[in-house]
Amino acid sequence: MRKIIIAIDGFSACGKSTTAKEAAKALGYRYIDSGAMYRAVTYYFLEHHVALANPKEVAKALSEIKITFNINAKGVSETFLNASNVEKKIRKMRISENVSQVSAIKEVRVAMVDQQRKLGKERGIVMDGRDIGTVVFPDAELKIFLTADILVRAFRRQQELLEKNEMVEFDAIVANLKKRDEIDSTRAESPLVKASEAIEIDTTNVTIDEQVDELLRLTFSSMLTSSKN
Ligand code: DC
Repeated sequence: MRKIIIAIDGFSACGKSTTAKEAAKALGYRYIDSGAMYRAVTYYFLEHHVALANPKEVAKALSEIKITFNINAKGVSETFLNASNVEKKIRKMRISENVSQVSAIKEVRVAMVDQQRKLGKERGIVMDGRDIGTVVFPDAELKIFLTADILVRAFRRQQELLEKNEMVEFDAIVANLKKRDEIDSTRAESPLVKASEAIEIDTTNVTIDEQVDELLRLTFSSMLTSSKN
């Protein structure tokens, strides 16, 4: 059957990556976490003290960055920055606190979108992010927009951080999510908006298994439609 592109967008901590990862595994598709790319850029900018308001510094730093993904021994995709594994570092709260400012920079977006399109050239990909269905792959066969209650999202994020031995107060997580929602959806460059043809799924009261099942059901129906066309 013809391979398709599945674009999953939505606010932070709505379950995008977990759902996308599981669905990609079931389909034998490649999974790309586009947020990880913006997190890796943010990590590099912080480490190298790049002045975000200085376009020359930003352009120079971007020319020095190469982001790749490798599958580890457990079959999990990990993010590499200039051949060094940064998967754990980019999930820290320090990165979450700065990533929305970095990802609002036009030059950063142009560079990342270019790489993301190359990764999707062969189709057979599930990519999650904020602008995947609207900007990166406007021709994606299936577009999903995930939402969830802010408190449920904060709880999920806190659990994820705890699993990585980082204890962050619940209120600080709620504040961070709200701030990022605000920046991500009001920025001038590719703000987070639901693509008109995207299917909205509210994950507040559903389990991961139910989310994945729903996504797979929608995927097979999109595959059938696109094979007929
Ligand atoms: O999915 P995430 O929370 O790891 O994403 C981190 C940040 O990256 C998010 O706050 C906004 C930005 N981002 C973006 O601007 N565009 C994307 N396609 C993916 C993420």
